[in-house]
Amino acid sequence: MCSHGGGRSSLFPSSIQQEKMPDRSVWVLALALVLALPCVGQQYREEAERIMTTTPVIDGHNDLPWQLLKRFNNQLRVPAANLTLLNDTHTNIPKLRRGHVGGQFWSVYVPCETQNRDAVKRTLEQIDVVQRMCDLYPETFECVTDSAGIQNAFQSGKVASLMGVEGGHSIDSSLGVLRTFYRLGVRYMTLTHSCNTPWADNWLVDTEEEKPVHHGLSAFGKTVVEEMNRLGMIVDLAHVSVDTMKVVLNISKAPIIFSHSSAYALCAHRRNVPDDVLQLVASTGSLVMVNFYNDYVTCKNTATLADVANHMDYVKKVAGAQSVGFGGDYDGVTRLPTGLEDVSTYPALVAELLARNWTEQEVKLALAENLLRVFSKVEEVKGTLQGTPAHETPIAFEELDGTCRTSYGYSSGSGTARLLPAALALPLALALRLSLLS
Ligand SMILES: *[C@@H]1O[C@H](CO)[C@@H](O)[C@H](O)[C@H]1NC(C)=O
Ligand SMILES: *[C@@H]1O[C@H](CO)[C@@H](O)[C@H](O)[C@H]1NC(C)=O
Ligand SMILES: *[C@@H]1O[C@H](CO)[C@@H](O)[C@H](O)[C@H]1NC(C)=O
Ligand SMILES: *[C@@H]1O[C@H](CO)[C@@H](O)[C@H](O)[C@H]1NC(C)=O
Ligand SMILES: [Zn+2]
Repeated sequence: MCSHGGGRSSLFPSSIQQEKMPDRSVWVLALALVLALPCVGQQYREEAERIMTTTPVIDGHNDLPWQLLKRFNNQLRVPAANLTLLNDTHTNIPKLRRGHVGGQFWSVYVPCETQNRDAVKRTLEQIDVVQRMCDLYPETFECVTDSAGIQNAFQSGKVASLMGVEGGHSIDSSLGVLRTFYRLGVRYMTLTHSCNTPWADNWLVDTEEEKPVHHGLSAFGKTVVEEMNRLGMIVDLAHVSVDTMKVVLNISKAPIIFSHSSAYALCAHRRNVPDDVLQLVASTGSLVMVNFYNDYVTCKNTATLADVANHMDYVKKVAGAQSVGFGGDYDGVTRLPTGLEDVSTYPALVAELLARNWTEQEVKLALAENLLRVFSKVEEVKGTLQGTPAHETPIAFEELDGTCRTSYGYSSGSGTARLLPAALALPLALALRLSLLS
C-alpha cells in the first residue's frame, strides 16, 4: 500500500517549526522524498502488473517436466503431484498466475547419460507428460504449437504451453525422429546439452573439458539445422560451443534463440553469449532469453534480481531491445537470485526494468513480442520452404556409437550381421549353412 495526500505539515507543530527549523520547506521536501521512495517502487510494480495483464511473459525454458519425472515418475494424479498444491518447486499453478506467465516453453529434457541409450524413449515420455499436464489442468494450460496459438491462449488467460527438446542427443542422430518430434508438437530443439552429439559440439569444448570434434557442426549437423528450418522448429543455441553458435547463425535461414543463456561480458561462463555472437544475434533478428541461474549471472553462488536486470540491460545495449527476453531456467537450477526465487517473481524484475527507464514498448518486446516475432519468422521460413522435400540422407553409420544399435538399412543383410566381428561371423555362417543342409 502506498499512500499519498496532504496533512503532512501537521507533523510539525508550529513552535518546532519556528524554533528548530531554519527552513521548513527543506524538511517538507525531505520528508516527502522519504515517503515517496517506497511509493515510486510501488508505482513501478503496479505499472509492471498493468503491462503484464495484456502482455504476459513468455519464458524460454522451464524444467518442471524434469521435476515431474524425478519426483513422481511422471504420475501426475498422485496427490503429491497436484500442481496447485505443489510447494517445493519453483513452479506451481498459483505461482504461474502471480507471475503473469502467459507462455512457457516446457523443457522435455533428458540427461546426456541417455545418449546412445534410452534418450528417444525418455524424450517421448517427457513430451507425453507435458501433454497430460495440459489435459489434466485445462483451465490453466493450453498446449499450443504455433505463434497464433500463443496469442489465443493470452486472450483466454491460459498459460500457452510449448515444448523444447534440450539436447540433440534426444534425436539419436535421426532426422526421422526430429520430424516425429515436430509432429508431436516440439517447437524448439537445443542442438546440444552438455555433451557433444555425433554432429554438434557443446559448450564444454570451450572449457577444454571436452575435445572439439566438429568445430561447430558436422555436415550432418548442417542438415539437421536445414531440416529444422524446413519444419518450422526454432533452433536453440543455449549449451552449444561458440563455434557452433557462429556456424548456425551463419547458415540458419530463420532467426534463432538462446532459450536460457546470459551475457558472457558480465559473467565469463561458457554457457553465456559472448559479445561478437550478440552482434550476430542482432543482425539476424535473433533472441537471447536471459538465464537467472546465479552461476551464469554473477559467476558466484549468490546473485540478486538487480544482477539479472544488468544482463538484460547489457543485451539490450549491445544487441538492442528486440534481442532480449526471459529464460529463467526455473526448476532446472539449484540456486536463484534473491528476489527471483520462483515463477511468481517476473513482475518484480519487470518493475526493476521500468525503474531503469525501459519504456513500456521495450518491456513488452522482452516479455513476449520478441519471441512472437522470432516464432512467426520461423513459421514464415517454413512457408517459403513448403516445396522443399524432406532430407533423406542418414548420418553415416561410422559416425554413430554402435554398441547397442542395429544396422538395418545401412547394410543389405540383417540388422546385426554387419556388426559381428569376422571371427564370430564365419562360424555363424558355417553353422547356418549346416543347419540349412540338415
Ligand atoms: C488439486 O488440488 C486442488 C485443490 O485441492 C483440487 O481442486 C484439484 O482438483 C486437484 N487437482 C488434481 C488434478 O488432483
Ligand atoms: C506443502 O505440501 C505438502 C504436501 O501437499 C504439505 O504436507 C505441506 O504442509 C505443504 N507445506 C506448506 C508450507 O504449505
Ligand atoms: C557465412 O559465412 C560465409 C563464409 O565464411 C560468408 O561469406 C557469408 O557471408 C556468411 N553468411 C552469413 C549469412 O553471415
Ligand atoms: C531515468 O531517467 C531519468 C529522467 O530522464 C533520469 O533522471 C534517471 O537518472 C534515469 N535512470 C536511470 C537508471 O537511467
Ligand atoms: Zn539447460
